[in-house]
Amino acid sequence: MEINQAIFQGSFTKTEVPVGNAPVEFAFIGRSNVGKSSLINMLCRTKGLAHTSSTPGKTQCINKFLVNGKWIITDLPGYGFAKVSKTLRARLEVMIHNYIQRTPQMVLLVVLLDCRHPLQKIDLEFLLKLGSWQIPYALVLTKADKLSKTALQKQTEQFKEALSLYWEPLPPLFAVSSKTASGREELLDYMGSVLEENG
Ligand code: GTP
Ligand code: MG
Repeated sequence: MEINQAIFQGSFTKTEVPVGNAPVEFAFIGRSNVGKSSLINMLCRTKGLAHTSSTPGKTQCINKFLVNGKWIITDLPGYGFAKVSKTLRARLEVMIHNYIQRTPQMVLLVVLLDCRHPLQKIDLEFLLKLGSWQIPYALVLTKADKLSKTALQKQTEQFKEALSLYWEPLPPLFAVSSKTASGREELLDYMGSVLEENG
């Protein structure tokens, strides 16, 4: 699959009531600073489409982009960012959880994990929630350019091992770099296959 056009549709702070004929959507989520907005820009080949920042907690709204005039990419706020107030963190968590559970047109949730760290408790807990809510998801290891090929392979195996304690079969797993665009085609092709299934 290729992305030819991506247009910013709007920023939302509240869960929208899903509309019957809303276009199918792919939502992106993961810990703060993991590289969600950068990945969206890389996939859409448009710098600055989604706002990125080296300061965690940049995305605090639900941002939507219309892709190829047909389907939606959603940039969700990151979870688990310790440096915002407890109240804001709780508010974002409720917003994220509500959104995920109440968006039936979301055909895939792309969950991002930093390839440099082992599977974190907060990510595992989040993934287990997705399991209990029966949300279809795929995992994407980000910032692959920061590891050597061998180290990335080793980390990928470790993720798989950790996940295999909970999932059989394992969820789809990709490694990407928004800096070099490695992994772009594989992820887009997978998204394309999900689109076809839900077409
Ligand atoms: P929040 O919106 O705060 O939750 O963050 P986010 O997950 O959207 O992360 P964002 O895309 O803003 O990226 C965070 C930082 O990581 C920025 O400084 C990016 O430049 C950097 N970054 C993101 N992806 C990559 C990557 O693939 N490689 C490298 N080297 N840096 C990356
Ligand atoms: Mg962001």
